[in-house]
Amino acid sequence: MSYEDSARVISDDIFDLVNEYFDRERSGRNNESRLNFFDTYNDYFVLTDDGSYSIKSKEINHKVETLHTSSGAISESFEKFIKPMKFDYDSDIAILDICAGLGYNSSAAIADFMKNSDKNLRIDMVEISKATLACGLLVPSPIPEHDITKKAIEDELITQDYATLSLEKTEMPENININVFIEDARQTVQKLDDNSYDAIFLDPFSQNMAPELFSLDFFKQFRRVIKDDGIIATYTSSAPVRQAFIEAGFYIGLGPIFGRMQGGSLASPNPLMLDYSLPKNDEIRIALSDVGIPFRDPGLNNDSDYILEARTEERHNARHNTKISSAVKTPIFLGQEMEDEKLKRRVERNLAKMNIPSTTSKEANYIVEVENDYTEKTDLKNNSTTRILEMKKRLKKVKNEKIKF
Ligand SMILES: C[S@@+](CC[C@H](N)C(=O)[O-])C[C@H]1O[C@@H](n2cnc3c(N)ncnc32)[C@H](O)[C@@H]1O
Repeated sequence: MSYEDSARVISDDIFDLVNEYFDRERSGRNNESRLNFFDTYNDYFVLTDDGSYSIKSKEINHKVETLHTSSGAISESFEKFIKPMKFDYDSDIAILDICAGLGYNSSAAIADFMKNSDKNLRIDMVEISKATLACGLLVPSPIPEHDITKKAIEDELITQDYATLSLEKTEMPENININVFIEDARQTVQKLDDNSYDAIFLDPFSQNMAPELFSLDFFKQFRRVIKDDGIIATYTSSAPVRQAFIEAGFYIGLGPIFGRMQGGSLASPNPLMLDYSLPKNDEIRIALSDVGIPFRDPGLNNDSDYILEARTEERHNARHNTKISSAVKTPIFLGQEMEDEKLKRRVERNLAKMNIPSTTSKEANYIVEVENDYTEKTDLKNNSTTRILEMKKRLKKVKNEKIKF
Protein backbone atom coordinates (compact mmCIF):
# COMPACT_ATOMS: atom_id res chain seq x y z
CA MET A 1 0.00 0.00 0.00
CA SER A 2 1.37 3.46 -0.84
CA TYR A 3 2.02 5.97 1.94
CA GLU A 4 -0.92 8.12 0.85
CA ASP A 5 -3.30 5.16 0.83
CA SER A 6 -2.26 4.01 4.27
CA ALA A 7 -2.63 7.55 5.60
CA ARG A 8 -6.00 8.07 3.93
CA VAL A 9 -7.82 9.10 7.07
CA ILE A 10 -10.01 12.00 5.97
CA SER A 11 -13.13 11.67 3.82
CA ASP A 12 -12.39 10.68 0.23
CA ASP A 13 -13.87 13.80 -1.36
CA ILE A 14 -11.74 16.30 0.53
CA PHE A 15 -8.69 14.00 0.40
CA ASP A 16 -8.90 13.92 -3.40
CA LEU A 17 -9.48 17.67 -3.74
CA VAL A 18 -6.55 18.52 -1.48
CA ASN A 19 -4.19 16.07 -3.17
CA GLU A 20 -5.22 17.30 -6.62
CA TYR A 21 -4.66 20.90 -5.54
CA PHE A 22 -1.14 20.16 -4.23
CA ASP A 23 -0.36 18.11 -7.38
CA ARG A 24 -1.13 21.26 -9.36
CA GLU A 25 0.93 23.38 -6.98
CA ARG A 26 3.91 21.06 -7.47
CA SER A 27 3.60 21.14 -11.23
CA GLY A 28 3.59 24.97 -11.20
CA ARG A 29 0.04 25.37 -12.48
CA ASN A 30 -2.48 27.75 -10.86
CA ASN A 31 -0.02 29.47 -8.51
CA GLU A 32 -1.51 31.29 -5.53
CA SER A 33 -4.84 29.48 -5.73
CA ARG A 34 -4.17 27.89 -2.33
CA LEU A 35 -5.51 31.15 -0.91
CA ASN A 36 -8.79 30.66 -2.79
CA PHE A 37 -9.23 26.97 -2.05
CA PHE A 38 -11.37 27.49 1.04
CA ASP A 39 -13.74 29.93 -0.71
CA THR A 40 -14.25 27.47 -3.54
CA TYR A 41 -14.66 24.31 -1.46
CA ASN A 42 -15.93 25.49 1.93
CA ASP A 43 -18.90 23.09 1.68
CA TYR A 44 -16.47 20.26 2.28
CA PHE A 45 -15.44 21.73 5.64
CA VAL A 46 -17.59 21.46 8.77
CA LEU A 47 -18.40 24.70 10.60
CA THR A 48 -18.41 24.20 14.40
CA ASP A 49 -20.25 26.26 17.02
CA ASP A 50 -17.38 28.67 17.78
CA GLY A 51 -16.85 29.54 14.09
CA SER A 52 -13.77 27.34 13.59
CA TYR A 53 -13.74 24.64 10.91
CA SER A 54 -13.32 20.89 11.09
CA ILE A 55 -13.29 18.08 8.52
CA LYS A 56 -14.74 14.60 8.40
CA SER A 57 -12.78 11.36 8.69
CA LYS A 58 -13.18 8.65 6.09
CA GLU A 59 -15.27 5.66 7.12
CA ILE A 60 -13.16 3.55 9.48
CA ASN A 61 -14.69 0.39 11.01
CA HIS A 62 -18.11 1.55 9.71
CA LYS A 63 -17.90 4.94 11.44
CA VAL A 64 -17.33 8.49 10.29
CA GLU A 65 -16.20 11.09 12.83
CA THR A 66 -15.42 14.77 12.54
CA LEU A 67 -11.93 15.64 13.68
CA HIS A 68 -13.30 17.97 16.36
CA THR A 69 -16.43 18.38 18.46
CA SER A 70 -19.31 20.27 16.87
CA SER A 71 -19.40 22.41 20.05
CA GLY A 72 -16.30 24.27 18.82
CA ALA A 73 -13.06 22.95 17.37
CA ILE A 74 -10.63 25.55 18.68
CA SER A 75 -12.53 25.95 21.98
CA GLU A 76 -12.09 22.22 22.48
CA SER A 77 -8.31 22.67 22.19
CA PHE A 78 -8.25 25.29 24.94
CA GLU A 79 -10.74 23.56 27.21
CA LYS A 80 -9.52 19.98 27.00
CA PHE A 81 -5.84 20.29 26.30
CA ILE A 82 -4.58 23.62 27.65
CA LYS A 83 -6.67 24.37 30.74
CA PRO A 84 -5.76 21.20 32.66
CA MET A 85 -2.02 21.79 32.20
CA LYS A 86 -0.02 23.23 35.07
CA PHE A 87 2.85 24.69 33.07
CA ASP A 88 5.74 26.32 34.88
CA TYR A 89 5.98 29.44 32.72
CA ASP A 90 9.31 30.36 34.34
CA SER A 91 10.96 27.42 32.58
CA ASP A 92 11.21 26.25 28.99
CA ILE A 93 8.27 24.09 27.94
CA ALA A 94 8.17 21.05 25.63
CA ILE A 95 4.94 19.60 24.25
CA LEU A 96 4.25 16.45 22.24
CA ASP A 97 1.12 16.92 20.10
CA ILE A 98 0.01 13.46 18.98
CA CYS A 99 -2.47 13.44 16.09
CA ALA A 100 -1.84 17.07 15.24
CA GLY A 101 -4.49 17.22 12.48
CA LEU A 102 -5.23 20.81 11.52
CA GLY A 103 -2.84 22.04 14.24
CA TYR A 104 -5.45 23.51 16.57
CA ASN A 105 -4.09 22.00 19.80
CA SER A 106 -0.58 23.26 19.05
CA SER A 107 -1.94 26.69 18.15
CA ALA A 108 -3.85 26.91 21.42
CA ALA A 109 -0.65 25.95 23.26
CA ILE A 110 1.26 28.71 21.44
CA ALA A 111 -1.42 31.29 22.31
CA ASP A 112 -1.33 30.27 25.97
CA PHE A 113 2.47 30.29 26.06
CA MET A 114 2.82 33.69 24.35
CA LYS A 115 0.42 35.19 26.87
CA ASN A 116 2.24 33.80 29.89
CA SER A 117 5.92 33.21 29.18
CA ASP A 118 9.04 34.69 27.61
CA LYS A 119 11.03 31.44 27.86
CA ASN A 120 11.33 28.84 25.07
CA LEU A 121 8.59 26.61 23.72
CA ARG A 122 9.22 23.44 21.72
CA ILE A 123 6.34 21.57 20.12
CA ASP A 124 6.73 18.21 18.39
CA MET A 125 3.66 17.70 16.23
CA VAL A 126 2.95 14.16 15.01
CA GLU A 127 0.42 13.46 12.26
CA ILE A 128 0.21 10.50 9.91
CA SER A 129 -1.47 12.28 7.02
CA LYS A 130 0.05 14.96 4.80
CA ALA A 131 -3.37 15.72 3.33
CA THR A 132 -4.77 16.42 6.82
CA LEU A 133 -1.91 18.76 7.69
CA ALA A 134 -2.42 20.38 4.29
CA CYS A 135 -6.08 21.00 5.23
CA GLY A 136 -4.66 22.93 8.18
CA LEU A 137 -3.11 25.31 5.62
CA LEU A 138 -6.42 25.69 3.79
CA VAL A 139 -8.82 26.48 6.64
CA PRO A 140 -9.16 30.06 7.92
CA SER A 141 -7.05 30.44 11.06
CA PRO A 142 -9.41 30.39 14.07
CA ILE A 143 -6.83 32.30 16.18
CA PRO A 144 -3.81 34.36 15.04
CA GLU A 145 -1.36 31.82 16.54
CA HIS A 146 -2.60 29.25 14.03
CA ASP A 147 -0.57 31.18 11.44
CA ILE A 148 2.58 30.18 13.34
CA THR A 149 1.56 26.53 13.24
CA LYS A 150 0.72 26.88 9.55
CA LYS A 151 4.21 28.19 8.89
CA ALA A 152 5.75 25.09 10.51
CA ILE A 153 3.40 22.76 8.61
CA GLU A 154 4.09 24.49 5.29
CA ASP A 155 7.86 24.28 5.81
CA GLU A 156 7.66 20.53 6.47
CA LEU A 157 5.30 19.88 3.55
CA ILE A 158 7.75 21.75 1.29
CA THR A 159 10.68 19.71 2.70
CA GLN A 160 8.72 16.55 1.93
CA ASP A 161 7.89 17.76 -1.62
CA TYR A 162 4.16 17.84 -1.00
CA ALA A 163 3.87 21.65 -1.25
CA THR A 164 6.15 24.00 -3.16
CA LEU A 165 4.96 27.54 -2.48
CA SER A 166 5.95 29.52 0.59
CA LEU A 167 2.70 31.42 1.12
CA GLU A 168 2.73 31.62 4.92
CA LYS A 169 4.28 34.98 5.70
CA THR A 170 4.21 34.80 9.50
CA GLU A 171 7.67 34.81 11.09
CA MET A 172 8.39 31.98 13.49
CA PRO A 173 9.05 33.65 16.89
CA GLU A 174 12.65 33.11 18.00
CA ASN A 175 11.68 31.39 21.21
CA ILE A 176 9.32 28.90 19.52
CA ASN A 177 10.57 25.76 17.81
CA ILE A 178 8.08 23.46 16.07
CA ASN A 179 9.02 20.08 14.60
CA VAL A 180 6.50 18.29 12.41
CA PHE A 181 6.74 14.50 12.16
CA ILE A 182 4.61 13.10 9.35
CA GLU A 183 4.35 9.41 10.19
CA ASP A 184 2.59 6.90 12.41
CA ALA A 185 2.89 8.25 15.97
CA ARG A 186 3.85 4.75 17.10
CA GLN A 187 7.05 5.06 15.08
CA THR A 188 7.77 8.60 16.28
CA VAL A 189 7.50 7.90 20.02
CA GLN A 190 10.13 5.20 19.84
CA LYS A 191 12.66 7.78 18.60
CA LEU A 192 12.01 10.41 21.26
CA ASP A 193 14.32 11.10 24.22
CA ASP A 194 13.54 9.98 27.75
CA ASN A 195 12.06 12.41 30.25
CA SER A 196 11.62 15.31 27.84
CA TYR A 197 7.97 16.53 27.67
CA ASP A 198 5.95 18.69 30.03
CA ALA A 199 2.72 17.81 28.23
CA ILE A 200 1.41 15.26 25.79
CA PHE A 201 -1.79 15.99 23.87
CA LEU A 202 -3.35 12.69 22.82
CA ASP A 203 -6.07 13.39 20.26
CA PRO A 204 -6.75 10.36 18.03
CA PHE A 205 -10.07 9.27 16.58
CA SER A 206 -12.15 7.22 19.02
CA GLN A 207 -10.87 3.92 20.38
CA ASN A 208 -12.86 1.72 18.00
CA MET A 209 -11.34 3.55 15.05
CA ALA A 210 -7.82 3.91 16.43
CA PRO A 211 -7.19 1.45 19.30
CA GLU A 212 -3.49 1.42 18.33
CA LEU A 213 -3.16 4.96 19.71
CA PHE A 214 -4.70 4.03 23.06
CA SER A 215 -2.73 0.85 23.78
CA LEU A 216 -0.85 -0.01 26.94
CA ASP A 217 2.34 -0.45 24.91
CA PHE A 218 2.02 2.99 23.32
CA PHE A 219 1.46 4.51 26.77
CA LYS A 220 4.59 2.80 28.10
CA GLN A 221 6.50 4.95 25.61
CA PHE A 222 4.73 8.02 27.02
CA ARG A 223 5.89 7.02 30.50
CA ARG A 224 9.46 6.99 29.19
CA VAL A 225 9.35 10.34 27.36
CA ILE A 226 7.29 12.41 29.79
CA LYS A 227 8.86 14.39 32.64
CA ASP A 228 7.99 13.43 36.21
CA ASP A 229 5.63 16.39 36.55
CA GLY A 230 4.28 16.12 33.01
CA ILE A 231 0.59 15.74 32.17
CA ILE A 232 -1.10 13.81 29.37
CA ALA A 233 -4.53 15.03 28.30
CA THR A 234 -7.01 13.11 26.20
CA TYR A 235 -10.73 13.62 25.62
CA THR A 236 -11.88 10.04 26.21
CA SER A 237 -13.46 8.64 29.38
CA SER A 238 -12.96 5.07 28.22
CA ALA A 239 -12.22 2.38 30.82
CA PRO A 240 -9.54 0.48 28.83
CA VAL A 241 -7.71 3.74 28.15
CA ARG A 242 -7.71 4.73 31.81
CA GLN A 243 -6.62 1.24 32.84
CA ALA A 244 -3.80 1.33 30.26
CA PHE A 245 -2.49 4.56 31.80
CA ILE A 246 -2.43 2.94 35.23
CA GLU A 247 -0.67 -0.18 33.98
CA ALA A 248 1.87 1.99 32.18
CA GLY A 249 2.76 3.64 35.50
CA PHE A 250 0.61 6.77 35.55
CA TYR A 251 -1.84 8.24 38.03
CA ILE A 252 -5.12 9.14 36.40
CA GLY A 253 -7.63 11.87 37.03
CA LEU A 254 -10.77 13.38 35.55
CA GLY A 255 -10.31 15.75 32.61
CA PRO A 256 -12.53 18.70 31.68
CA ILE A 257 -16.03 18.24 30.24
CA PHE A 258 -16.54 20.00 26.93
CA GLY A 259 -18.95 19.02 24.18
CA ARG A 260 -19.54 15.60 25.77
CA MET A 261 -21.48 14.12 28.67
CA GLN A 262 -18.41 12.96 30.56
CA GLY A 263 -15.05 14.44 31.44
CA GLY A 264 -11.96 13.25 29.59
CA SER A 265 -8.87 11.75 31.18
CA LEU A 266 -5.63 13.15 32.53
CA ALA A 267 -2.55 11.12 33.42
CA SER A 268 0.66 12.02 35.18
CA PRO A 269 3.51 10.22 36.93
CA ASN A 270 2.86 12.66 39.80
CA PRO A 271 -0.59 12.45 41.47
CA LEU A 272 -0.23 16.02 42.70
CA MET A 273 -0.49 17.27 39.10
CA LEU A 274 -4.10 15.99 38.97
CA ASP A 275 -7.04 17.66 40.71
CA TYR A 276 -10.13 15.48 40.40
CA SER A 277 -11.00 11.81 40.87
CA LEU A 278 -12.86 9.78 38.28
CA PRO A 279 -16.52 9.10 39.13
CA LYS A 280 -16.87 6.26 41.70
CA ASN A 281 -18.59 3.85 39.34
CA ASP A 282 -15.89 4.35 36.72
CA GLU A 283 -13.25 3.41 39.28
CA ILE A 284 -15.21 0.27 40.27
CA ARG A 285 -15.75 -0.87 36.67
CA ILE A 286 -12.12 -0.27 35.68
CA ALA A 287 -10.81 -2.13 38.73
CA LEU A 288 -13.15 -5.10 38.75
CA SER A 289 -14.68 -5.86 35.37
CA ASP A 290 -13.43 -7.00 31.98
CA VAL A 291 -14.27 -3.58 30.55
CA GLY A 292 -10.99 -2.42 32.14
CA ILE A 293 -8.86 -4.71 29.97
CA PRO A 294 -6.58 -2.49 27.88
CA PHE A 295 -5.76 -2.57 24.19
CA ARG A 296 -2.43 -4.26 23.52
CA ASP A 297 0.05 -3.71 20.71
CA PRO A 298 3.38 -5.14 21.92
CA GLY A 299 5.36 -4.46 18.73
CA LEU A 300 3.61 -1.10 18.15
CA ASN A 301 2.73 -2.37 14.69
CA ASN A 302 -0.57 -4.27 14.76
CA ASP A 303 -3.55 -3.11 12.76
CA SER A 304 -6.67 -1.82 14.49
CA ASP A 305 -8.86 -4.85 13.69
CA TYR A 306 -6.32 -7.22 15.17
CA ILE A 307 -6.02 -5.12 18.34
CA LEU A 308 -9.81 -4.93 18.75
CA GLU A 309 -10.28 -8.66 18.21
CA ALA A 310 -7.46 -9.62 20.57
CA ARG A 311 -9.01 -7.48 23.31
CA THR A 312 -12.44 -9.04 22.77
CA GLU A 313 -10.90 -12.47 23.20
CA GLU A 314 -8.95 -11.42 26.28
CA ARG A 315 -12.13 -9.99 27.83
CA HIS A 316 -13.96 -13.23 27.11
CA ASN A 317 -11.24 -15.29 28.80
CA ALA A 318 -11.01 -13.00 31.83
CA ARG A 319 -14.76 -12.89 32.53
CA HIS A 320 -15.68 -15.08 35.56
CA ASN A 321 -12.03 -15.94 35.87
CA THR A 322 -9.95 -12.92 36.89
CA LYS A 323 -12.61 -10.25 36.31
CA ILE A 324 -16.27 -9.78 37.20
CA SER A 325 -18.42 -9.82 34.09
CA SER A 326 -19.19 -6.33 32.84
CA ALA A 327 -22.65 -7.54 31.72
CA VAL A 328 -25.49 -5.49 33.25
CA LYS A 329 -22.76 -3.37 34.88
CA THR A 330 -22.48 -6.04 37.57
CA PRO A 331 -19.63 -4.55 39.65
CA ILE A 332 -21.39 -1.26 40.37
CA PHE A 333 -23.97 -3.13 42.47
CA LEU A 334 -21.37 -4.40 44.95
CA GLY A 335 -22.28 -3.26 48.44
CA GLN A 336 -25.80 -2.22 47.30
CA GLU A 337 -29.24 -3.57 48.22
CA MET A 338 -31.09 -4.42 44.99
CA GLU A 339 -34.84 -4.18 44.53
CA ASP A 340 -35.18 -5.37 40.95
CA GLU A 341 -35.31 -9.15 41.51
CA LYS A 342 -34.62 -10.10 37.91
CA LEU A 343 -31.57 -7.87 37.66
CA LYS A 344 -30.40 -9.02 41.08
CA ARG A 345 -30.49 -12.67 39.95
CA ARG A 346 -28.33 -11.85 36.93
CA VAL A 347 -25.89 -9.76 38.96
CA GLU A 348 -25.55 -12.40 41.68
CA ARG A 349 -25.07 -15.18 39.14
CA ASN A 350 -22.08 -13.21 37.79
CA LEU A 351 -20.75 -12.49 41.29
CA ALA A 352 -21.04 -16.12 42.41
CA LYS A 353 -18.56 -17.12 39.72
CA MET A 354 -16.02 -14.87 41.45
CA ASN A 355 -16.72 -16.31 44.93
CA ILE A 356 -18.86 -13.32 45.93
CA PRO A 357 -22.11 -14.76 47.34
CA SER A 358 -24.27 -11.63 47.08
CA THR A 359 -24.09 -7.86 46.51
CA THR A 360 -24.17 -7.25 50.27
CA SER A 361 -21.96 -10.16 51.36
CA LYS A 362 -18.80 -9.64 53.41
CA GLU A 363 -16.79 -10.33 50.28
CA ALA A 364 -18.62 -7.64 48.31
CA ASN A 365 -18.27 -5.07 51.07
CA TYR A 366 -14.61 -5.90 51.58
CA ILE A 367 -13.85 -5.12 47.93
CA VAL A 368 -15.74 -1.84 47.63
CA GLU A 369 -15.21 -0.45 51.13
CA VAL A 370 -12.14 1.10 49.50
CA GLU A 371 -14.58 3.60 48.01
CA ASN A 372 -15.56 4.83 51.50
CA ASP A 373 -12.47 7.06 51.33
CA TYR A 374 -13.61 8.57 48.00
CA THR A 375 -13.21 12.32 47.64
CA GLU A 376 -13.72 14.33 44.50
CA LYS A 377 -10.47 16.23 45.06
CA THR A 378 -7.40 14.04 44.89
CA ASP A 379 -4.23 13.97 46.95
CA LEU A 380 -1.14 11.83 47.31
CA LYS A 381 -2.85 8.99 49.17
CA ASN A 382 -6.45 9.41 48.19
CA ASN A 383 -6.84 9.22 44.43
CA SER A 384 -8.47 7.10 41.70
CA THR A 385 -5.33 5.11 40.94
CA THR A 386 -4.64 3.92 44.49
CA ARG A 387 -8.31 2.97 44.95
CA ILE A 388 -8.43 1.07 41.65
CA LEU A 389 -5.24 -0.85 42.45
CA GLU A 390 -6.50 -1.71 45.95
CA MET A 391 -9.89 -2.97 44.66
CA LYS A 392 -8.12 -5.11 42.06
CA LYS A 393 -5.96 -6.64 44.76
CA ARG A 394 -8.97 -7.37 46.95
CA LEU A 395 -10.92 -8.99 44.12
CA LYS A 396 -7.98 -11.29 43.48
CA LYS A 397 -7.83 -12.30 47.14
CA VAL A 398 -11.56 -13.01 47.24
CA LYS A 399 -11.48 -15.04 44.03
CA ASN A 400 -8.53 -17.09 45.26
CA GLU A 401 -10.26 -17.54 48.62
CA LYS A 402 -7.23 -16.08 50.30
CA ILE A 403 -9.30 -14.11 52.79
CA LYS A 404 -11.06 -15.33 55.92
CA PHE A 405 -13.88 -13.21 57.36
C1 LIG B 1 -9.26 13.83 16.09
S1 LIG B 1 -8.13 14.22 14.83
C2 LIG B 1 -7.00 15.32 15.60
C3 LIG B 1 -7.33 16.80 15.51
C4 LIG B 1 -6.15 17.67 15.85
N1 LIG B 1 -5.62 17.44 17.16
C5 LIG B 1 -6.32 19.15 15.59
O1 LIG B 1 -5.89 19.97 16.43
O2 LIG B 1 -6.84 19.51 14.54
C6 LIG B 1 -7.19 12.71 14.73
C7 LIG B 1 -5.98 12.78 13.82
O3 LIG B 1 -5.20 11.61 14.00
C8 LIG B 1 -4.49 11.38 12.80
N2 LIG B 1 -3.95 10.00 12.86
C9 LIG B 1 -4.62 8.85 12.64
N3 LIG B 1 -3.80 7.80 12.84
C10 LIG B 1 -2.59 8.31 13.22
C11 LIG B 1 -1.35 7.71 13.59
N4 LIG B 1 -1.20 6.38 13.62
N5 LIG B 1 -0.32 8.52 13.90
C12 LIG B 1 -0.47 9.86 13.88
N6 LIG B 1 -1.63 10.48 13.55
C13 LIG B 1 -2.69 9.71 13.23
C14 LIG B 1 -5.55 11.63 11.76
O4 LIG B 1 -4.98 11.88 10.51
C15 LIG B 1 -6.28 12.85 12.34
O5 LIG B 1 -5.74 14.03 11.83
